[in-house]
Formats: sequence, C-alpha cells, structure tokens
Amino acid sequence: MGYKTDKNGVNNLDFRSDTVTQPTEEMRRAMRDAPVGDDVYGDDPTMNELQEYAAALLGKEAALFACSGTMGNLISLLSHCDRGDGVLMGANSHTWKNECGNVAAIAGVMPYPLDDSSGCPTIESIHGSYQPSGNLHYAHTKLLTIENTHNSAGGVPIDVAVFGAVADEARSMGLKVHVDGARLFDAVVYFGVDVKEYSSRVDSLQCCLSKGLGAPMGSVVCGSRDFIERARKFRKSLGGGQRQTGIAAAAGLVALRDMRGRLAEDHANAALLADMLGEMGVAVESVPHRTNMVYFSTGDGPVDAAALIRLCAEKGLLIGSPGKRRVRMVTHVGIDADSVKTAVGIIKEALSL
Ligand SMILES: Cc1ncc(COP(=O)(O)O)c(C=O)c1O
Repeated sequence: MGYKTDKNGVNNLDFRSDTVTQPTEEMRRAMRDAPVGDDVYGDDPTMNELQEYAAALLGKEAALFACSGTMGNLISLLSHCDRGDGVLMGANSHTWKNECGNVAAIAGVMPYPLDDSSGCPTIESIHGSYQPSGNLHYAHTKLLTIENTHNSAGGVPIDVAVFGAVADEARSMGLKVHVDGARLFDAVVYFGVDVKEYSSRVDSLQCCLSKGLGAPMGSVVCGSRDFIERARKFRKSLGGGQRQTGIAAAAGLVALRDMRGRLAEDHANAALLADMLGEMGVAVESVPHRTNMVYFSTGDGPVDAAALIRLCAEKGLLIGSPGKRRVRMVTHVGIDADSVKTAVGIIKEALSL
C-alpha cells in the first residue's frame, strides 16, 4: 500500500470525497469540553452558540442545525412549499439526482429540472418552467434552488454577478430562492467575497459543516426567524430533534470559524492534480473555475471507471465514479501536494500512459 496514515487514521490518498475527513485535534478537544444540554428544549449552549454564529456570519435572522445536507435541503423545501407546489432545480443538482427523490417522496412537491450544465440554472430555463398560480392545471411554482458550488458540473463556484442576476430574477417573479450550499464557502474563498454577497440575495441556505470544513457531521440552515421555526418543526417530524447536540456543534464551530480560509489549499491541490493529469494525456473536464474537484474520463480504452477504481485501490488510492467512464477526485484537508503526486503516478500506471 502506498499511503501514509497519521495517528488519527487519516489516509492521505483518499480522494473519494471531502466527506472522508477526520476531525482536527482542536475539534476533538472542543467536542470533549463542550457544555451541553437538551437541544429539543433549546437548552444546549454550544448548539445555540453555533446557530447564532452561523446566522450572524450569513447575515440571516436565525439558523438551525440539521443532521446532514440532505436533511437541511429537505426541511428548507418543506418550509417554503406546500404539497403540490412546483420547485425549480437544476437537472444535474444534488437535490434532483442524489437525495433519494425525497422532494417527491416526502415533500410531495413537483420538481421541474432546469438547464444547469454550466452550474447555475439559466434565466431562460426558469422562465420556461415557471407556472404562475391561477391556472388549475399546473403546479404553482414556489421555489428555485441553486447549488453553489455545483458538484456535478465540476465543483463549479457560481460567480456573484451571475448568482445575483438569477436570484433577483426569480424573486421578482415571486419565487423564494434556496441555496444548496454544501460547499458554499469554497465559492466564497475562491472568489474572495463575503458570504453575505450570496446570502443577502436569497431566502434560505444550507451549508455543510462536514464537507471541506472538516467537521464530523451536520449542516446549518439559515433564513428568517419564521422560516427557521417552520424548519425546526419539520426537522423534529423527520426525527432530527436530537438532545446533547453541543458535542456536534463544538466541532461545527471550529469548522465555521477556523477552517474556511484553508479551503484555498484544496483548490490549489485540485488545480495541481488537474494540470498533472492533463499533461499526462488524461481527458480532464475543463471548468471555468476550479475549486476542490477534478472530473475526468478514462477514455475508450480497456480500463473503464470501475476497473480504474479497483486498480488504484490495490495501490491504496481511493477515487470515486459517478458514471461508467467518468471519474471524480476531491481534495480536502487530508490531501497535500505529495498526495497528489503519488496519486497521479498510480493513475498513470493503471491507465498504462
Ligand atoms: C451539493 C451537495 N448537496 C448536498 C449534499 C448532501 O449532503 P449530506 O451527504 O450531508 O446529506 C451533498 C453531499 O455530498 C452535496 O454534494
């Protein structure tokens, strides 16, 4: 095996996702020492601190911890919509493709997939799918969701001007706008902007603590006080009302306070990876801006994605695949430039380049 593991068990060749990170020493210390209480009663001081910190950071009235990004998106959608309402979301978005069809199965809303091939849903596709109230035949469109950064498009961060124009247009049509910001701080750090430049243009956001920010679990949902109170009820009904959650919030506070700035290192390592693979002749997908993801094709040769994953795993390199020939590698706090160089060598050998 070609990988190093540190004393916490970090595998520095695990490129499957930025969800594989181990909590930092500071997170572990904070979790051990956190004052806690019963959060269903609103009594957990560390959770209250996290929620207040998140609301202030994003410039919203209130925030709520959710067990996961999926739960954060679902309770946001439930809080904005009634059964039978229409929701506009990218055809390649996580909410459309990767959340178990929960918008239909649990929320009972009608999703309309939009053109989001470049990351952000286009204004034309919003107009094309929008159904106003007043016609008995249609699901009345209530909500637009925007994913930033956009995972499947290549970890693409949405430029503030594009994001703002789309959000403003949707709101001028009477829609609410929700952001799946699983990796919103990657966009913030990439463009060097204040997160409020995004959050001030929309009604709600969910930001994952457990992706690039490195916490072991959870997301924060932010919005108006009324919206958060509705979300709290839906969270409880889905079984997400938990008790001494300060343990999780303590790590989340470290993630939100201290781990945002270092995301630039992940972007630099992903750029190095994309460059090195490209120089070797690998068909790396080009993106307008690269954050912490690299997608590439295995080409038409005998080694498809499944075979590449197996060959790499034999050498200790873990990678992921969303398609037969499409491969994804993600950088994170456990990956450094040496990890990238080792990984590229293993891929070169596996693809016989
Ligand atoms: C863009 C995006 N949104 C939402 C989620 C869901 O997050 P979770 O796995 O915490 O439910 C993910 C997970 O990878 C994601 O990539």
